[in-house]
Amino acid sequence: MRIKIIGSAAGGGFPQWNCNYRLSRAARDGVAGVHSRTQSSIAATANKTDWVLFNASPDIRQQIAQTPDLQPADNSSLRSTPIAAVVLSNADVDHVSGLLSLRERQPFAIYATAQVLGTLEANSIFNVLDPEIVPRRVLPPMDGLSIRDADGKETGVVVDAFPVPGKIALYLEQRGDPSASFSSDTGETIGVRITGAGSSGAAFYIPGCARLYPSLRTRVANAACLLFDGTVYTDDEMIAAGVGSKTGARMGHIAMSGEAGSIAGFAGVKIGRRIFVHINNTNPVLDENSAEHAAVKAAGWEIAMDGMEMEF
Ligand code: MLT
Ligand code: MN
Repeated sequence: MRIKIIGSAAGGGFPQWNCNYRLSRAARDGVAGVHSRTQSSIAATANKTDWVLFNASPDIRQQIAQTPDLQPADNSSLRSTPIAAVVLSNADVDHVSGLLSLRERQPFAIYATAQVLGTLEANSIFNVLDPEIVPRRVLPPMDGLSIRDADGKETGVVVDAFPVPGKIALYLEQRGDPSASFSSDTGETIGVRITGAGSSGAAFYIPGCARLYPSLRTRVANAACLLFDGTVYTDDEMIAAGVGSKTGARMGHIAMSGEAGSIAGFAGVKIGRRIFVHINNTNPVLDENSAEHAAVKAAGWEIAMDGMEMEF
């Protein structure tokens, strides 16, 4: 099993187009130790040929351009792709809008929960992916689902999907009742365990998670790799930075730091590599010279960069 982190930033990317906060400025200025990142997505293969994307970010065109493994193979037909399927972890803009860039009547399969498929269905722009060519398949909360390409051929990637605390996508929130759809079991947001034939272990990919709970700790124990929600370092970070009024929790994201944070929450759980993904442009860990970056590394976590790879 090979996994590539093709996009390690949260929605907006890093730097974000309209952001003048010190971190986006530093990334734009090319300050040493502050690296640009594209939006949230990973790619996995079990057979070195067929790739499964987990989320399709608005930066997918750039991500494919930067990743030869995701480009048409030399000896392949005039229109082709190694991308056999896309698995969606929720319906957020940073996770689904890249599907629109995968049009051009190219077969691949989409897997998502019934709720997320309902959102695609309700937004007719996604019909640029003709369901006759790009089948949409329900990803139920179950273990051991074999991910197949559009023709039904197994990719060798096998997924367990499970709901995590999260919320509906921002654009689906009801104005009068914005916190209506925080839930731990509706399937608006899922995590996945990724493994495959011949692999010696499994990776967990959980780019959005509002809080930790004991059975999640148990579930990820002994994983080769945990790719986890690294949106914010502190819960009130966006407010303190002056760029927004929402806490991390309000956005469906647990903070890295603090007693209720993910670093403390996963402490003591045996995991091969623990890596933060989906990092927001306000998160001080984006600056490799920061105390927060050092604290995260000292706690045994890595901070994802685009192009990071793992094999197990
Ligand atoms: C999130 O991760 O909270 C969303 O991507 C936010 C958004 O839709 O901008
Ligand atoms: Mn996001």
